[in-house]
Amino acid sequence: MKILGVDIGFGFTKATNGMDTLIFKSIFGDASDLQFWIDFGDQALTDSFNVTIDGKSYFIGNLAEQQSNVLNFTLDQEKLISEFVKILALTAAGVFLKKDAEINVPINIVSGLPIGHFKNNFERFDEILTGHHKITYHQFDGIRVVKEIYINKIRMLPQPLGSILNLLMDDHGKIVNVDLARQKIGVVDIGFRTTDFSILDKLRYIDRGSRTMDTGISKAFSIISNKLREKCGVNVQLYRLYKAAEAGTIKMKGHGLNFVKIRDQVYNQLAGNIANDIDRLWAEDWDIDTIILTGGGSMELAKYLQPLIAGNVRPVMNNIDARLNNVQGYLKYGKHIWGEAEPEAEIEPETSSPAPPPELEPIEEMEEVTPLMDDDALEEIEELVEENFSAERKN
Ligand SMILES: Nc1ncnc2c1ncn2[C@@H]1O[C@H](COP(=O)(O)OP(=O)(O)OP(=O)(O)O)[C@@H](O)[C@H]1O
Ligand SMILES: [Mg+2]
Repeated sequence: MKILGVDIGFGFTKATNGMDTLIFKSIFGDASDLQFWIDFGDQALTDSFNVTIDGKSYFIGNLAEQQSNVLNFTLDQEKLISEFVKILALTAAGVFLKKDAEINVPINIVSGLPIGHFKNNFERFDEILTGHHKITYHQFDGIRVVKEIYINKIRMLPQPLGSILNLLMDDHGKIVNVDLARQKIGVVDIGFRTTDFSILDKLRYIDRGSRTMDTGISKAFSIISNKLREKCGVNVQLYRLYKAAEAGTIKMKGHGLNFVKIRDQVYNQLAGNIANDIDRLWAEDWDIDTIILTGGGSMELAKYLQPLIAGNVRPVMNNIDARLNNVQGYLKYGKHIWGEAEPEAEIEPETSSPAPPPELEPIEEMEEVTPLMDDDALEEIEELVEENFSAERKN
């Protein structure tokens, strides 16, 4: 059995098995017959996804952006589920299966949905993904690699909970951060389309303070894109703005344009909106212990948003990619409920024996800290996790 975390966001699809992580833009397009392929660089796997699923061929992610004539990108939840989830999830899942050796090895997947769309849609992932699938990866050297995928189980979580589970559990899915588990935590997950607000009080999900808003980064990108169109008459699609927005510059028709000032203004405004939402949504929840900012958008907005939030905000780290926080938490949760997957012996023989558990800190350094291994507390927390976190389809 294999366990994967898969997060299909409006901006990026993320997937991990704990050892390897994939991230690519959530876009796909027609696979035109490339007449000629030349590549002098080191081609990243995610730059060259050309797949066939159910008899249809697609370019996915960067390759679609570069080469497809008709490109599919969406900011609509219904469309994301009905048209994108299968293609993006299978493309990602197949990569984690080794050729031939792992035909139809059962895969259990943990994935998520924005809070506001959770109840109505979580069962659909099961319908779309559970069962047997075949995907062909077309490599540019002409080789076709066929992967037979058997998705055995799907568990769904409200998206921002992935980030909390990531902080709560270690790589084996064991709850280690008991301190956090006892707190009242507010999570703000800023993605490309959505910002999800969520409260967990001692791991109990608080519906009142949990909501999905449309204040993701794409809101800022559309304003920037409009300004660019006014200035240059060029319509820049939102999914082409990531690098430009980070740099604050873009080259169009040979001219470099600096839009740092507009970007900063727009980000500042967006951060203001999010801070207002926090004040409004969490007005009654003034007893929140810690606020966690997560999602890729939190990296862009942290410097504007942090000063506007009254409370104990956990600083956004520059050295980790916050786009991956949810998917890493999904995987840990998968290990928590299904146990560790089999060691990936055939792939990397040197890691065939599972890694030993991390050494505990020396006693002297532990003395002042609340003991981590309080069995009763852990048991209680495990029950709460079980009760509150997941939704599995009941047949
Ligand atoms: N290296 C990077 N490349 C692209 N975007 C980045 C990068 N680092 C941070 N970002 C930010 O991450 C954002 C996307 O975040 P994330 O992947 O969490 O969104 P998503 O999950 O796809 O969207 P949603 O949650 O709305 O479905 C981008 O809008 C961008 O601002
Ligand atoms: Mg997201």
